Amino acid sequence: MSRVAYVNGLYVVHADAGVHVEDRGYQFGDGVYEVCEVRAGRMVDERRHMERLVRSLRELRIRLPMPLHALGVVLRETVRRNRVRDGFVYLQVTRGVARRDHYFPVPEVPPSVVVTARRVDAAKNEALAIEGVAVITVPENRWDRVDIKTVGLLPNVLAKQAAREAGAREAWFVDADGHVTEGGSTNAWIVTQDGVLRTRPAEHGILRGITRTVMFEVAEQLQLRIEERAFTVAEALAAREAFLSSATTIAMPVVRIDGQPIGGGSPGPVVRKLRELFHSVAEIAR
Ligand code: PDD
Repeated sequence: MSRVAYVNGLYVVHADAGVHVEDRGYQFGDGVYEVCEVRAGRMVDERRHMERLVRSLRELRIRLPMPLHALGVVLRETVRRNRVRDGFVYLQVTRGVARRDHYFPVPEVPPSVVVTARRVDAAKNEALAIEGVAVITVPENRWDRVDIKTVGLLPNVLAKQAAREAGAREAWFVDADGHVTEGGSTNAWIVTQDGVLRTRPAEHGILRGITRTVMFEVAEQLQLRIEERAFTVAEALAAREAFLSSATTIAMPVVRIDGQPIGGGSPGPVVRKLRELFHSVAEIAR
């Protein structure tokens, strides 16, 4: 069965799916996206992902392409047509197609909408979580509006590729003060020697991850203390545990930073419990 993509009102064969060469997403990175986990055929935390999409669009002054309930139908239909049980659904909205010109198009053009869905091997992810992953650190070099989930991800792409070439999975950006901001596609956390869960506040310098938000509720259920305060690389190295979070990784143990082991170099019990409990706290629609 071939994969299917939704492109501007049509479900098309994935291999042939395309947008116009003058799409502003393609030319300027002028668009936003969301990645939502699919588990047992159902979307995880759809409501929060849609809320963040609306915010990202508002910040960039791009029109919502269709009512949210219609967008929900498209997401679910794309998941269904691709027979995704465990995987992800990707949604991208750009400012649309117009002759290349930096100014917003006048008159306004309809936003472009693309939705794809993809299966993942859930067992493989679980195996990775048992092993843990390595991260490297790189200097923060992104703009100051990374709270908007734009498709302009060049620094993230370069950082993650550097991580891969160093035998790591993720790159943590480190700001001018020596504090970790976040990963190339994940939020960053530590568990201090006092057992406190620590992650950077979401006002500046990071994307407010949906997984991050839900993780606060999971931590509360586990009666863990949480502190929203940035940490340095040295503090991470001295931590009991470290992990990263995103819709594609949930809570993923970090066992090495720049080649140095964290917490003895193997995943700890806190991240394991957070991971185990996550889906019983997340919103999963029937
Ligand atoms: N990335 N920070 C960045 C820079 C991200 O790109 C992401 C998500 C997150 C975590 O957000 P959430 O918990 O809502 O997934 C944090 C997605 C998965 C991606 O780009 O593939």
